[in-house]
Amino acid sequence: MEIIKVKDLTKKYKIKNTGDVVVGLNNVSFTMNEGETLGVIGKSGAGKSTLLHILRGIEEFDEGEATIDGVRLTPDSPSSDFSKVHKKTAMHSQRSFALWGQSILHNVMRKICAAQKGSEELPEQDSTDYESIKDEAMEIIELVGLKNKYKYYYNILSGGEKQQVLLARQLAFKPRVLLLDEPATMADPITRKNIIDTIKKIHEKLGLSTVLVSHMPEVHEYLSDRLIMLENGCIVNEGSTSKVLEEFTRQITEPVPLEPITSKTEKIMRLKNVYKKYRLVTSSELVQTIEMKSINFSIPKGIIMAMIGPSAKGKTVLIRLLGGIEKPDDGEVLVNVGGEWIDISKYGRKSIIARQKVEVMHQEFGLMYNETISEQFAYRLGLKSIETIDRAMAQAEELGITDLKLDVLYRLADLPEDEAKAALKKMGLEADIFSELFPSFPETEARNVAKPVLEALNLSEDILDRHTHELSCGEEVRVAIALHMVSKPEILLLDEPFGDLDPLSLRDVLNAIKKLNKELKTTIIVVSHQLDAVKEIAHEAVFIEAGITRWGEPEEVCEVFLERMREIEANPEEKEIVTN
Ligand SMILES: Nc1ncnc2c1ncn2[C@@H]1O[C@H](COP(=O)(O)OP(=O)(O)OP(=O)(O)O)[C@@H](O)[C@H]1O
Ligand SMILES: [Mg+2]
Repeated sequence: MEIIKVKDLTKKYKIKNTGDVVVGLNNVSFTMNEGETLGVIGKSGAGKSTLLHILRGIEEFDEGEATIDGVRLTPDSPSSDFSKVHKKTAMHSQRSFALWGQSILHNVMRKICAAQKGSEELPEQDSTDYESIKDEAMEIIELVGLKNKYKYYYNILSGGEKQQVLLARQLAFKPRVLLLDEPATMADPITRKNIIDTIKKIHEKLGLSTVLVSHMPEVHEYLSDRLIMLENGCIVNEGSTSKVLEEFTRQITEPVPLEPITSKTEKIMRLKNVYKKYRLVTSSELVQTIEMKSINFSIPKGIIMAMIGPSAKGKTVLIRLLGGIEKPDDGEVLVNVGGEWIDISKYGRKSIIARQKVEVMHQEFGLMYNETISEQFAYRLGLKSIETIDRAMAQAEELGITDLKLDVLYRLADLPEDEAKAALKKMGLEADIFSELFPSFPETEARNVAKPVLEALNLSEDILDRHTHELSCGEEVRVAIALHMVSKPEILLLDEPFGDLDPLSLRDVLNAIKKLNKELKTTIIVVSHQLDAVKEIAHEAVFIEAGITRWGEPEEVCEVFLERMREIEANPEEKEIVTN
């Protein structure tokens, strides 16, 4: 029996600023049988998420129709029909990190409450309501394979485990159709296998009809009964999984060669006797302390270095230390600025200069919501230009703002937006003072500087006039990377930047990174779980588990990592400790 029937579906987006029309879907037709898993593949911007949003009943469309479990939607359908579709479906959204900062159990219980009562508020801890919802939640948690961790807090879960929790929350709705948008990104190869095993298990146990959007060929190979391939909003290929995958992967462009690093004698950064202790609240009963002791290493100028290692074991902490946004408890974080070694963690005039040379892209980055992309380029370029810094220093002096305070402010520019806002508030300052001290670049100039960077990432120039929500996820990731490249930093720190990219766009990004490194000798440090990407772009790799435990050729270090992951998998007790 058909559970989904889509006929001549067309969706056009109107860009707010320019009135231009962008094609989301163009005359798409297909059917899906009950119990089937239909895979959807296509490169970034092809229309995959658009299709899922329509099937979810949360996106209107321009032409055609979509029938989901007997409810027919047309462009003129009343909103009550869209709500009916909404109730029949559940969706795992792409790049969603929206979880409560609580235990897995409470996260799932809250969704059950929402499904039953329309609000995510939990009942009183000792009530019978609480107990029955808990039992239901535990069943789902077991189904997604997180039973042993149900007490764990959100903050210590790996990217892959967060996705498992998001899946569990969707099952709380007991949907008729499950819509999955990139459920297996942000994970190392072993965790990825766990996630797709979980999806398989859910499918076998519940027989749920599933539409699976993924740009990972191996995910479709394992899960999809058949595939459709989208391109510019059209179905360009459909049929057996293997046939369509072959067609898709054939389009991946060639890698440009990595420029060999000729000399490693000149160093750009140096960590000296760094000691860092941080606490992880792991569950309501447990707080774990992680120590990174006496870290000493120097980073050669012009290198691309990859950092790999198990989750929650310090990769992000290390990136934040190197970016000067986190202070070590002891030791020095030195940056070579024109031959002088400056400690970026000691706030003041000098570290402002060091900071200007560094760009940090965070794992859970967010672009600004209310600004267009070109305004965001203008802002970033303003922040990281040396002229701005000179002017800001003069202005700060006039305003009676000390160098220390100015640096503390300047540091906010490298923090994720939420953290920066919270810090400003804590300092009792308004966002205005920030834009006064660090004004944006003139926009026409910013556009000109941005264009070649966008082009290198295979993004069209008209993206500059859009707002963030007018981009597909892969476009958003590439814009974020472009924003951190555009000021031509001497040091570029990237924390898991590849998670949401299809293999075609990933190749564009990897090529752009290699090009930047070759042309400007930019030192690039990248944290990634994607070992193939690491092998392609890194001159050297380091393995991190509470400090640096191995440094060498990428091939060799990736093998060390996989070996360690297998060891952790095979030893449940260790698994607890490491994911803790
Ligand atoms: N709200 C929006 N407003 C304007 N244009 C949009 C909007 N959402 C998506 N688009 C555009 O529609 C096209 C399809 O986007 P969609 O998000 O469906 O792509 P996708 O296949 O999911 O890509 P990705 O792999 O990057 O997630 C893209 O060109 C995108 O820029
Ligand atoms: Mg998408």
